[in-house]
Amino acid sequence: MKRIAIFASGNGSNAQRIAEYFNEISEIEIGLVLTNNSKAGVLKRAERLGLKSVVFNRNDFAENAKVDILLQDHEIDFVVLAGFLWLIPEFLINKYPNKIVNIHPALLPKYGGKGMYGMRVHETVIANGEKQSGISIHYVNNKYDEGQIIFQANFDIEKGETAESLAAKIHELEHEHFPKVLERVINTI
Ligand code: GAR
Repeated sequence: MKRIAIFASGNGSNAQRIAEYFNEISEIEIGLVLTNNSKAGVLKRAERLGLKSVVFNRNDFAENAKVDILLQDHEIDFVVLAGFLWLIPEFLINKYPNKIVNIHPALLPKYGGKGMYGMRVHETVIANGEKQSGISIHYVNNKYDEGQIIFQANFDIEKGETAESLAAKIHELEHEHFPKVLERVINTI
């Protein structure tokens, strides 16, 4: 059995999709949902799904190692960032080598980096007149959105596309691909 922790800062639709997908797979389970935001929608979703969730702060993440201890106590093998905003501390990256994966709502290496999150990404893609957008799933290193890319899917941006319509298309792609890509990666560890 492999146990996943999901980190999310917001709505949590990807977290939910991942949890539902792995509900059907006996060798992989969600051990814990973690958020830095006590108002995050992901907390309600976790409750509905019967998943244990924890809210943590900056100190818990880096200085007092509460998050690290939680991951150990829940025997977590693999970490998924599903709309998570903070940079992962280097000691955690070293503890989970190639075992932390993030999803980004654009075609990296473009439109990544600090502050490039959610709608801001889509607004910038539209403002720059890009012809395509898509999703990137990548390993996490100590820089925002710069780890090795595992998977990308793209589509053409239509005339009249808005940041909102783009966000909806991106979410659909994420929900379709993220759980399957995670399953493939987790099965290799
Ligand atoms: C997703 O689109 C994800 O790619 C993005 O946040 C959204 C979270 O949606 N992540 C980033 O922008 C990371 N830089 P969700 O809360 O509904 O899963």
